[in-house]
Amino acid sequence: MSADSEKLETGRRKLAWARAHMPVHAELRERYGTDRPFAGVTVGVCSHVEAKTGVLIETLAAAGAEVIFTGSEPGSSQDDVVAALNEQQGITGYARRGATKAELDTFHRQALDHGPNLILDDAAELTARLVHERPDLLPGLKGVCEQTTTGVQRIQAMLREGMVGFPAYAVNDTPMKHEFDNVHGTGESSLTNLMLTTNLLLAGKQVVVAGYGDCGLGVAQKARAWGAQVTVTEIEPRKALRAHMAGFRVTSMEEAARYGEVFVTATGNRDVIRVEHFAQMRDGALLANAGHFNVEIDARALADVAESVTEARPGIVEYRMSDGRRLHLVAEGRLVNLATPTAMGHPVEVMDQTFAMQFMAAQHLLEHGAALTPGMQRVPDEVDRQVAEIKLQTLGVTIDALTESQRHFLDTWRLEEILGA
Ligand code: NAI
Repeated sequence: MSADSEKLETGRRKLAWARAHMPVHAELRERYGTDRPFAGVTVGVCSHVEAKTGVLIETLAAAGAEVIFTGSEPGSSQDDVVAALNEQQGITGYARRGATKAELDTFHRQALDHGPNLILDDAAELTARLVHERPDLLPGLKGVCEQTTTGVQRIQAMLREGMVGFPAYAVNDTPMKHEFDNVHGTGESSLTNLMLTTNLLLAGKQVVVAGYGDCGLGVAQKARAWGAQVTVTEIEPRKALRAHMAGFRVTSMEEAARYGEVFVTATGNRDVIRVEHFAQMRDGALLANAGHFNVEIDARALADVAESVTEARPGIVEYRMSDGRRLHLVAEGRLVNLATPTAMGHPVEVMDQTFAMQFMAAQHLLEHGAALTPGMQRVPDEVDRQVAEIKLQTLGVTIDALTESQRHFLDTWRLEEILGA
């Protein structure tokens, strides 16, 4: 078997495994595969191109879309999956693992050349580029569905500058996305990949989690469940209090830098761990990032202050300080759950939900987008609820329904009615 056909075969197998564990997508293909509501619509998908994203892409194609895909991050796409998607009808993609910044730019431009009518985005990569570089495409754009926190923030920033003349659904902000994907997906996959890459033990270690939003909360909770001593750093007083009352030690990065053994950033911000912190750290400290961009740990400053920089293991770079301390940066400070050599991203079942939200939000946008005001919009609650219902159905979980008297009880403000007079 040639290297190319072997790659194709591996990609097909990865897609088949993901498909088999994404029952919500199977249901969506069943529901929308005949009516094909996306027929005649070009959908641009920008995400980490691995098997779960592949199943979303296949589902969109099954629902009639012409799908154009590209990677949202240089280290997270998988070439075998890219090949196995590109052989399918109605799907064209531009992505490569380890793409340089210039290559990724070219891939995004090639994707935009297809003139997408809808964009399913990750960190507003395609959206920002379309607005910035291809305003000629704006008339054909019906809307955007954004799947991550950083992307929602970027679109809001664009909105403040009056640059969003189309509806954009904040899919990240739906309960079915962020309460599961950010918390459980990021929590489990970041720690799993970190420990697989290092082959070290988490139990008993001092783990410092920067940021106690949905992702940080997930990482902190799971690390504690694995037996780690967890510290949280925050800049937002209520989040800090929440972490404190969940039983975590809360302190500044300046303080935590002195005793932490494993650091995981999940803030969506930059320079959270920087030169003054590196100066305090213990020998052997592990530094990893779970936030979208590789700027949470100031890797440039780390390289500047290091006496030598070597590869310690695949996916881990060792920075040796002049006093002999060694600091270990995982995946170049890129998404630890996606950019390490063996990374596979979020667990399949979580992405079944997240991508079902992207699909359903896109379908809703297609149907109702013309009536929406341009700008960032909340995905209607009924769409979120619908995906939750499908998910429960696939799990075989039954829930109660409101009785008439309960519905009435919840709907009324008159005391005599509430008391059943
Ligand atoms: P969030 O907004 O819920 O939480 C971020 C938290 O970080 C906030 O509580 C904020 O106060 C805190 N923060 C900001 N600057 C800080 C600083 N300098 N020091 C300490 N804390 C700071 O955001 P969420 O949903 O937790 O996402 C965080 C990042 O993770 C985003 O970039 C998001 O796109 C990304 N993400 C990554 C995933 C992955 O697969 N690794 C999955 C989902 C989101």
